[in-house]
Amino acid sequence: MRILVTGGAGYIGSHTAALLAHRGDFVVVLDSLEHGYRRAVGGLPLIVGSTHDGPLVREVIGHHAIEAVVHFAAYKAAGESMTDPGKYFENNVGGSLRLIAAANAAGVRKFVFSSTAAVYGTPSTLPVKEGDALRPENPYGESKLIVEQILKWYDACHGLRSVALRYFNAAGAALDGENGEDPRQVANLIPLVMKVATGRAPVLRVFGADYPTKDGSGVRDYIHVLDLAEAHARALDFLAADKPSDVFNVGTGQGASVFEVLEAARRISGQDIPAEIVGRRPGDPAAVFADNRKAREGLGWSPRYGLKEIISTAWQWHRRHPDGFDQV
Ligand SMILES: NC(=O)c1ccc[n+]([C@@H]2O[C@H](COP(=O)([O-])OP(=O)(O)OC[C@H]3O[C@@H](n4cnc5c(N)ncnc54)[C@H](O)[C@@H]3O)[C@@H](O)[C@H]2O)c1
Repeated sequence: MRILVTGGAGYIGSHTAALLAHRGDFVVVLDSLEHGYRRAVGGLPLIVGSTHDGPLVREVIGHHAIEAVVHFAAYKAAGESMTDPGKYFENNVGGSLRLIAAANAAGVRKFVFSSTAAVYGTPSTLPVKEGDALRPENPYGESKLIVEQILKWYDACHGLRSVALRYFNAAGAALDGENGEDPRQVANLIPLVMKVATGRAPVLRVFGADYPTKDGSGVRDYIHVLDLAEAHARALDFLAADKPSDVFNVGTGQGASVFEVLEAARRISGQDIPAEIVGRRPGDPAAVFADNRKAREGLGWSPRYGLKEIISTAWQWHRRHPDGFDQV
């Protein structure tokens, strides 16, 4: 297939672009490089530009005879979206709408979208299923839900079929340790643990150890970035097989606690990784993990990697590139 990958210089997009190219698809990346890195794109064609630029998107699609768009380009910091909601609606909704409109006008009929478990907010039952209530608790999650709805209507009105993948917590790195999550931009647990392990931060703060979970710390569903990448390949196959638009959770279905992550990181890295327990953060649910049966059955996808591989690949990446791509 001939595929345009937006945000393909970023963390998940670059792993996915590489996987698609490796399996024989033609891939062209569109990224503003606001957060991504040229080096993450490797040898694939990269167009430095924005999803907001409809004429550019149409030209790229026409020039490369693009059949499908895989859309990662967005801002992703839920906390920042609470202090600057306009930034998130402008880029995540406005940029996506311009991209979708341009792709549709240029004749694209297959679209895969990076959604998020944040569309559920605090789940009322676990594991979370696709049909459960959608109650985002921050502008970031809301911006993704709005795009899911835009896509639903572009299918109903224009026949643009789409798959929205609701990722749980993306984590881990390339198996060779040469591509991973930017240590400077993240507020997620595993990169923070790695920052302490590499001596870039003195101590890991554990937000709450009095939750009603197995060991009192928060529980999340960590999904390896390569499993996420594979889910996009399966979603493209699903659309190529003329299946109707749909939405899938992409998680392992297993929750890991903060203390379990910390212990695994200490064991694998051989570092002390000091931690201190501080109060809960407002708005953090005790536990979130996916029911992934729909993706298993509908996409023929299943996760290959667990917490051990997530931590060991992340450790390799962070140890070799503690400041990310620029400092190598
Ligand atoms: N990382 C996670 O745990 C997670 C979880 C759920 C959903 N997601 C979603 O997955 C997608 C990818 O996340 P990531 O972790 O790889 O983030 P990332 O920040 O590493 O990658 C996003 C990329 O998009 C680019 N970009 C942003 N706005 C753009 C625009 N308007 N035009 C062109 N390029 C633009 C950035 O330069 C960056 O390279 C995002 O949509 C994010 O919301 C991520």
